Amino acid sequence: MRQKIIAGNWKMNLTLEEAIRLAADIKSEASSYRHQVILCPAFPYLLALQNELKGTNIKLAGQNCADRENGAFTGEVSASMLASMSVPYVLIGHSERRIYYHESHEVLKEKMDLSLRYGLLPIFCCGETKDIRIDEKQDAFVEKQLEESLFHLSEDDITKVIIAYEPVWAIGTGLNASPQQAQDMHHFIRQKISARYGVGIAEKIIILYGGSVKPDNARELFSQQDVDGGLVGGASLKADDFKKIIQAV
Ligand code: 13P
Repeated sequence: MRQKIIAGNWKMNLTLEEAIRLAADIKSEASSYRHQVILCPAFPYLLALQNELKGTNIKLAGQNCADRENGAFTGEVSASMLASMSVPYVLIGHSERRIYYHESHEVLKEKMDLSLRYGLLPIFCCGETKDIRIDEKQDAFVEKQLEESLFHLSEDDITKVIIAYEPVWAIGTGLNASPQQAQDMHHFIRQKISARYGVGIAEKIIILYGGSVKPDNARELFSQQDVDGGLVGGASLKADDFKKIIQAV
């Protein structure tokens, strides 16, 4: 049985005070969570939230890390910095990073390598745009994302990676992938991992779905065989909605 994960990607939202209040609210029911809950706040809030979440099983993730080890890269945050703060997870290759900050396959490959080198558990995001879905080229598109940034990893490293399938057309649009569309892509991703690393490893890799996950669609999405939980944006900013999504797994 693969572990189920629900991660909340807060993106560039909330003041420090609001972030602490939201974490406290999510924490208030932590003893009832049967799955791994991960919060992805902005970098400056990580330590305050680590303190707030002490004694619970809720974990933190950085939303990004640099593609360089350290040095004169003003404004960047390195994998080693996150590791030194005992932040266990990091998002890599979110579509907003790919689109607005032009992160290439090659840059994301570097980020994967650095995060693994420093002992972080990367959550690698992939997914096609609307045009690619309309052209029915989503499989080839996602396959290339995996091949270019992930499939150079050793067997040992790939087993530490969590994959998040987030179709760009479903992010922040209120238009989620149908449970069947999510299942089809997750199955395809697992098949590709199996072809590269073998079925034993493929069956172990956690694949999350992201894109307009809400309390009313979470249960059906998460009940698909290859969907091992979710990466939630907008709904993770509302404690009640996020708690309902956690309980839906
Ligand atoms: P929404 O849940 O707001 O669609 O965002 C999904 C996402 O981008 C999570 O990383």
